Amino acid sequence: MKTLLTGGAGYIGSHTAVAMVDAGHDVAVVDNFANSSAEAIARVEKITGKKVALYEADVADKERMMEILKTEMPDCIIHFAGLKAVGESVAMPVEYYRNNIDTTLTLLECMRELGLTNIVFSSSATVYGEDNVPPFTEDAPKGMCTNPYGWTKWMQEQMLTDAAKASKAECDRLKATGKEAGANEWKAPLSVVLLRYFNPVGAHESGLIGEDPQGIPNNLMPYISQVAVGRRDHLTVFGDDYDTPDGTCRRDYIHVMDLAEGHVKAAEYAVENKGTEVINLGTGSPYSVLEMVEAFGRACGHAVAYEIGARRAGDVQDSWADAEKAKAVLGWQASRGIDEICRDAWNWQSHNPQGYKK
Ligand code: NAD
Ligand code: UFG
Repeated sequence: MKTLLTGGAGYIGSHTAVAMVDAGHDVAVVDNFANSSAEAIARVEKITGKKVALYEADVADKERMMEILKTEMPDCIIHFAGLKAVGESVAMPVEYYRNNIDTTLTLLECMRELGLTNIVFSSSATVYGEDNVPPFTEDAPKGMCTNPYGWTKWMQEQMLTDAAKASKAECDRLKATGKEAGANEWKAPLSVVLLRYFNPVGAHESGLIGEDPQGIPNNLMPYISQVAVGRRDHLTVFGDDYDTPDGTCRRDYIHVMDLAEGHVKAAEYAVENKGTEVINLGTGSPYSVLEMVEAFGRACGHAVAYEIGARRAGDVQDSWADAEKAKAVLGWQASRGIDEICRDAWNWQSHNPQGYKK
């Protein structure tokens, strides 16, 4: 299968590129390096021993995307490209809506013109909102998001779902009337897989690729890693007065290589099916902030310094997946636990203390 990964030089995309090649599929990557570097793809090639076609382009640039897609004609597009920092999205909503929504609309227009039909999308557990009780099942109602980033995921899910529905209706109508599809008509029904990620963490076991946040990390695991390696003094734990066994929030931390392998299964599923499928990618098991701090200490061989601070605005107490649908539909489940997560995160961080910067 030929796959095209938008945002494929980023954290999850680069790991998925490795998993795709390992599974015997061809990979092309489109990235504008807004939050990544070409070095990640050089490392993917080093790990796999295979060439990855790399295009530097903005996925919202339709002319450029038409050229790239005409060249590649992928069996499946995996759409990772997007801006993802929750706090930044609150300060810069216009940039977040423009980038995240435009990339998806551009891809849909190109797919329609070229007759490409299969797309897997990076969504987030954030669309469940605050009213559901974990474990979250895919049929739980989508909720109110607490930030523009979350809304972009919510809206992109809707846009893709609506396009899949319209493509099916249009193809049925054309078939019934015996007419050929015009330039702006769907030539075949779309197949959309919306993957709702929980908390992707860890790194490829080689230590050659991993998460490389710019500036001060927003997320727990890269922050812990940078404290462990001496780049930061201590972690601030955002609140220890939640109604949980140790008072800290619980999340479903999923090893990025498990997540990457889930994408391989999702892309294979997308090419065999039609319509829209929503699937959680999580482990189904929650861990608290303090459990993650302790696990990382075991992996790096010394305690990770932390202080208890105030709650962070917008945090939910508990979030974890019901992971049964992924098992049933994709035949996939996570197999790596928190000790492997911390071992691989530490391997990456300790060998690349400044990330991809030489
Ligand atoms: P990342 O920032 O490492 O990767 C995103 C990539 O997209 C980057 O390489 C960036 O340069 C690229 N990009 C952004 N806008 C672009 C554009 N207009 N054109 C071309 N390239 C563009 O982030 P990630 O953690 O790998 O996340 C990948 C996807 O998964 C994102 O859509 C993100 O919102 C989603 N997601 C991530 C998490 C998480 O915790 N990491 C959780 C849920 C969902
Ligand atoms: N935390 C700390 N200190 C830190 C960073 C985080 O205590 O310095 C805590 C948070 O309060 C939270 C937990 O660690 O309890 C996990 O926080 P992350 O920021 O790592 O992850 P979130 O669950 O808040 O956010 C993730 C993704 C978002 C997505 C959201 C909802 O990063 O993209 O899940 O699914 F929107």
